Amino acid sequence: MTTAAFDFAPLLPAGLPAPAAKWSGLSKYSFVGGNNDPDQVPVDGLIDAVDAVLRREGRTLATYGLASGPQGYRPLREFLTQKLRRDAGIACVPDDILIVSGSLQALDLVNQTLLCRGDTVIVEQDTYQGALSRLTRLGVNTVGIPLDHGGMRIDALAAALADLRRRGVAPKYIYTIPTVQNPTGTIMPEARRIELLDLAEQYGVPIFEDDCYADLIWDGRRPPALYAMCGNGGVIHIGSFSKSIAPALRVGYIVAPWPLLSQALALKTDAGSGALEQMVLAEYCAPHFAEHVPKLTRGLRAKLDTLMEALNEQFGTAAEFEDTKGGIFLWVKLPDHVDTLKLYQAALATGVAINPGPEWSTDKKHAGSRLRLCFASPSHQQIREGIAVLAEVCRREFGVPARIANVETQAWKPI
Ligand SMILES: Cc1ncc(COP(=O)(O)O)c(C=O)c1O
Repeated sequence: MTTAAFDFAPLLPAGLPAPAAKWSGLSKYSFVGGNNDPDQVPVDGLIDAVDAVLRREGRTLATYGLASGPQGYRPLREFLTQKLRRDAGIACVPDDILIVSGSLQALDLVNQTLLCRGDTVIVEQDTYQGALSRLTRLGVNTVGIPLDHGGMRIDALAAALADLRRRGVAPKYIYTIPTVQNPTGTIMPEARRIELLDLAEQYGVPIFEDDCYADLIWDGRRPPALYAMCGNGGVIHIGSFSKSIAPALRVGYIVAPWPLLSQALALKTDAGSGALEQMVLAEYCAPHFAEHVPKLTRGLRAKLDTLMEALNEQFGTAAEFEDTKGGIFLWVKLPDHVDTLKLYQAALATGVAINPGPEWSTDKKHAGSRLRLCFASPSHQQIREGIAVLAEVCRREFGVPARIANVETQAWKPI
């Protein structure tokens, strides 16, 4: 018997993504990812829910899909129909909903349903890295539409659609995060939603609406979902419990017309998403969701205030950002010469993890001096300390901020 390790390399098919790096733990100051506030996970409520639902219905775990069929636990879909009607104006029935393993699986299923290598899709210029990386892996071309305070700019979208048509390209969908955009935090007003729907209808392009953060709005007020406003069934709507309850539960959903939903269901090959998570969410959310969310958003808003104060104190005018209406991210612009991919490396070495802008944009130059900071998971103290360390690293590497916490630094004193 030889002890040489078996070599899998010659067996790997072409076109695989780069292998994953081994996890080396969370950074001391972690501003990355879409993680939640650990103190806001409703642990006691989830414990009560799991106990109640397992005692009552635990025997249904003996059946794939419980007793609810392949679209997911029916009481959870019933809760969603009520929640979506109340919050987003969506009139749907449980059979319009497919429960999936996080909205990442929704992205995969919709992409598998609609896209081929060489296709073109329209996205917001700054957008969710998980959506961009999937499209790149599929060999799909992305056209990025610039954003302003109201989200995707309709004039730029109209120009892009006209240009694509001139070139004989029919985009497969328009992907948008209209309600608390990731990473910019904008909410598209209702009037602009109407313009977007009109334009999409005019060009015969469906809209792929990602409403992942729609529960996390400081004043709780949001425009109706595009899905609710669309008159022709040309919107696919996805959502998630990751941001309102907990991302590790891995429960999301697709709401779509049956011809699309049935195709996505046929591609869902995991014999159903985790049943226990679905049961616990339905049991907890039906009585508690409406009171849990305002508590959660109050806590998030307080953390955003701490982050903005820390940035103002440590970076002064070198860090530009807009107060957001909700969510868990702040999209920050540093002076043009700051390369946030390099800042990311240098900061990581000191225990501060940030998301560099270029990974969240179709326009790498525009995003080169931008970064995304998640304020939900670090504590207030970690936010203050982490931003102070980040400012120090940025000053060392790029000379900004020239002043730290309003104290002029040695290196930048005029001689
Ligand atoms: C815009 C957007 N969509 C989808 C997801 C995926 O979330 P999940 O799979 O946890 O539902 C995220 C996660 O951060 C996101 O930001």
